[in-house]
Amino acid sequence: MNFKEELKERTRNAEDVIRKYLPKEEGFSVNLIKAMNYSMEAGGKRLRPVLLGEMYKICGGTGNLAEPFMAGIEMIHTHSLIHDDLPAIDNDQYRRGKKTTHVVFGESAAILAGDALLNYAYETAFKSFSLAENEGEMRKTARALEILGRKTGIHGMLGGQGADVENDGKPLTREMLDYIYVNKTSALIEASLMAGAALAGMEDLTDVEAIGRKIGLAFQIQDDILDVTGNEQELGKPVGSDEKNHKTTYATLEGMEKAGQEVQRLTEEALELLTQLPGDKTFLRELFLFLCTRRK
Ligand code: IPE
Ligand code: IPE
Ligand code: MG
Ligand code: MG
Ligand code: MG
Repeated sequence: MNFKEELKERTRNAEDVIRKYLPKEEGFSVNLIKAMNYSMEAGGKRLRPVLLGEMYKICGGTGNLAEPFMAGIEMIHTHSLIHDDLPAIDNDQYRRGKKTTHVVFGESAAILAGDALLNYAYETAFKSFSLAENEGEMRKTARALEILGRKTGIHGMLGGQGADVENDGKPLTREMLDYIYVNKTSALIEASLMAGAALAGMEDLTDVEAIGRKIGLAFQIQDDILDVTGNEQELGKPVGSDEKNHKTTYATLEGMEKAGQEVQRLTEEALELLTQLPGDKTFLRELFLFLCTRRK
């Protein structure tokens, strides 16, 4: 199988896992559940569950212990997108090729759907405890949960989003911008790789975390570039959102050319670190290279 086919297969697998764990649309809060599932089912690249599942595999994991985490991390990510698009934050109307959640369901339902997805992510990840076959797997699950919580919260994704929103329209130093990117975007990519490795029993996660940090930074810089040079239809979200919100980005701070070089440099550094990890890294290597030049 070539890389494109492999990616398709892994994405399809992630989709199947996610679908298995979505809440059933029933009961008196059915409208809220529909709002949760709307963006989850709209698609997206499924990058985080693919990374988590792949890392679990290359570190020697077998069985389905990682599945609830694959679904859970995509729920956390989707929650962040629903809230990121709200009028009070980036005020965007288009996501994953569809109208944003608040446009379709109203603002109050979108706020609650984001909250509910964030909570449901943990309800889902906790299910790994009941899949665990021995005490060792219980311990691995607990460790992965600790990573998920820490990287999502104030010392991770939400801390980054907080600083990002607060600094709309302000000039930023490179140091501040690094803080924002490492937290709003790298943290969840780090969590995907680290949780996958932890569930498979890897003890020292230092290199895995460093790889996630670099790939996450490269991913966000490429996102900024695509916000200028991308194609709305291909991206499934608007271009020009950063300009509209007067954001300082890598592209505005360093210029497009340097931003592109930075994506390449970070990817090469991540690839170098990847060689330290065990197992067959062929797919991850190709995935990192693919992300570096992605158009969506
Ligand atoms: C968008 O993430 C938010 C950023 C961190 C830049 P993705 O580009 O992974 O969005 P989907 O999941 O494919 O929709
Ligand atoms: C959002 O960054 C990062 C998170 C949602 C955590 P952006 O605001 O650049 O993401 P897009 O471009 O709307 O996907
Ligand atoms: Mg934003
Ligand atoms: Mg945004
Ligand atoms: Mg963006």
